[in-house]
Amino acid sequence: MLRTEICQYVLSRGAVRVGILDIGATVSFVEMPDRNGRVKNIVAGFRHAEEYWQNDHYFGCIVGRYANRIGKGRLMLDGHTVQLSVNNDGNHLHGGFEGLHRKRWRLQSRIESDDESGVVLEYTSPDGEEGYPGNLRIQVGYMLDAAGRFHMQYTAVSDAATPVNLTNHSYFNLSGFERPVIDDHLLRIFASRYTEKNGSNLPSGQLLPVSGTAMDFTALRRIGDRFGQLPQDGGYDHNYVLDGSLAGTMGVAAELYDPGSGRQLRILTDQPGIQVYTANWWDGSVVGAQGVPYLKHGAVALETQAFPDSPNQSSFPDTILRPGEVYRSTTVVEMNTK
Ligand code: BGC
Repeated sequence: MLRTEICQYVLSRGAVRVGILDIGATVSFVEMPDRNGRVKNIVAGFRHAEEYWQNDHYFGCIVGRYANRIGKGRLMLDGHTVQLSVNNDGNHLHGGFEGLHRKRWRLQSRIESDDESGVVLEYTSPDGEEGYPGNLRIQVGYMLDAAGRFHMQYTAVSDAATPVNLTNHSYFNLSGFERPVIDDHLLRIFASRYTEKNGSNLPSGQLLPVSGTAMDFTALRRIGDRFGQLPQDGGYDHNYVLDGSLAGTMGVAAELYDPGSGRQLRILTDQPGIQVYTANWWDGSVVGAQGVPYLKHGAVALETQAFPDSPNQSSFPDTILRPGEVYRSTTVVEMNTK
């Protein structure tokens, strides 16, 4: 495969523009104005498209087949053991070594009308890829609507039972990286519980209340206030249990606001959880699309998804897709200024 032939599709509505790459079905830029109309790219990305073939930090891409961790990469499925690749500290993370983020996705359709600007990309993951059973045909639709909402819609079908958990791994810095860290951003998460985790970043199975802890974002709060209380991760790297998480209907998951620029995001999803990850492993070695080094806490990823390690936690919502079923997941990002 010729690595030079990288396609970028640009969705555009008013002052908002979104770039989509065929590698990893990646959101490569999101440009939006601040309260004074100054347009900036508010997501982490690379300067050169070829860098997306590697993308160790998962900038903007789709992660899967199973986003987040599966303990020891192992699960029981209909009485037999499935062994996935183990690529992160003895566990399976974000689909393994060559996950969906490193695949070339095929353009399925391009939509341009008065109401919307979008693309649908498709990838079929073959039986056995990274240890997953079944041929999994995945479609991701990205669409900007007239009101400046960015829709992400995932569907998947399989010819064998297999775990599926898809999400987009965009990192946001609403100042457009004019300020190098997001400590001053205000975050609200519509979750009164989170999944407790052990030292290997795997859930214990317990859902703990956020109330009275550094995890509490039930009211809008400065993200950086309590980083010091999270020594295990040096910031946030936690899955929140969205209130109404079992409803399976669209609800507000999170709000992110940058008082400096006035840019604001509101994230809606039909997924039960959201992983909040404050780029704790960034170290300034990557100079990103905005021409500045990406520092620790340089951005925040808000990953709407099923709970981590669900196949090994019988009390968590089921993530096994079976032949004849259709996996569906939708997340909407509303962009505003105030
Ligand atoms: C995970 C982190 C991981 C990071 C990799 C996040 O989604 O929650 O644990 O280090 O992805 O970029």
